[in-house]
Amino acid sequence: MTEQEDEFFEGKRPWSIIKDEVLRSYLSPYMAKVNRLGQSIILVDGFAGPGVFDDGLDGSPLIICKAAEKFAAGKYKAFFINKKKKYHDKLESVLRKGGWLGAATPILGDTTEILPLLPNLLGNQTVFLYLDPFGPTGSPFSLLEPFLKRSKVHSTEIVVMMHMPIAHRLAARNAVESGKGDHPKIQKFHQAMSRIFGGDYWKPIMFSSDLTTEDRESQLISAYCDNLAAYLPYTGFCPVREGENDRVKYFFVFASRHPDAMLLMHDAMLKAYFKRIHEDAYEGTLFENIDWKDSLSKKGLKEAIVENVKIQPGITRKTLWINIVHRYFMKYQKSDFLLVVQQLVDSGELICPTPRKTKRLNESCELFLANE
Ligand SMILES: C[S@@+](CC[C@H](N)C(=O)[O-])C[C@H]1O[C@@H](n2cnc3c(N)ncnc32)[C@H](O)[C@@H]1O
Repeated sequence: MTEQEDEFFEGKRPWSIIKDEVLRSYLSPYMAKVNRLGQSIILVDGFAGPGVFDDGLDGSPLIICKAAEKFAAGKYKAFFINKKKKYHDKLESVLRKGGWLGAATPILGDTTEILPLLPNLLGNQTVFLYLDPFGPTGSPFSLLEPFLKRSKVHSTEIVVMMHMPIAHRLAARNAVESGKGDHPKIQKFHQAMSRIFGGDYWKPIMFSSDLTTEDRESQLISAYCDNLAAYLPYTGFCPVREGENDRVKYFFVFASRHPDAMLLMHDAMLKAYFKRIHEDAYEGTLFENIDWKDSLSKKGLKEAIVENVKIQPGITRKTLWINIVHRYFMKYQKSDFLLVVQQLVDSGELICPTPRKTKRLNESCELFLANE
């Protein structure tokens, strides 16, 4: 792994850019929001790396420190764990130069040993846990469980990078199909998969011969999110890849107790992913000046809105958007949602009796179907 590790930090890969862009654009509003809760904030980067890439771009520790300093200075403690001394030392010097040492602490050690100690030391702090290992075996479900099981009254967010090529290798579908599923090496791989995903629900998905690789991956990550949602109900994921036609490298997966965190993550992921995919597809062509937002479809949005209002008459526009994002994560953008709701009210298909100064709707407007 060492040579691969060094290569990783030589310069940002395009998929790494999506990943860091999501983290960056999520953390600023997240830090501003949790700062208002008034609890101290604990930020943990379990697989931190050296802090800067060789080409000078920020790694996750710096992205975290910059957002924390800007929006919650003096209110946070950040912990950056590295198993490799070389990266630990570099990170320490980068943190010192930035003036962050004190609020930020680099820790030399193995996250799989250090992280289980943390939940016992925690009280009512707000916790953000970021896990970006090289492969999924670095973040077994048992590592997350103590954080997932924190009391409901505390704010807890978990972000995990799920590496897909290694998950396919461990599932070894071709070996299973050719009757070698009982081979001890394959059995060991499968035990690793069950540890990563916290159960063996991955088997029918990964062994299915009716699904495309993409479908297998998104079903697997959806099922993983369902598993996380048993503890933290608002989950979502974003594929991280070089371009539209490239294989998924990672899924950026998150889980939170709060719907606002899901909304922030939805916006951050939608923008980082579709902007990158748009650039990859159209760079250097006549279409490069078209806004990436125009490539997003509104197909099915009107029906989803009407269906939701039918199920929950009197639902506010704010809750309606939470429901849409929860059900169709990363599919629709908020501006399109607002437009379609307004059009439905203007055309009389939806009714909004909430008193307001103009015809324009606001977040607390209650919505009903016209013919009910
Ligand atoms: C994918 S890189 C993380 C990159 C980082 N998030 C960034 O943006 O720069 C994974 C890092 O975790 C470290 N690592 C691997 N296994 C570890 C373990 N068990 N405990 C702590 N660190 C580990 C590696 O040395 C590497 O620096």
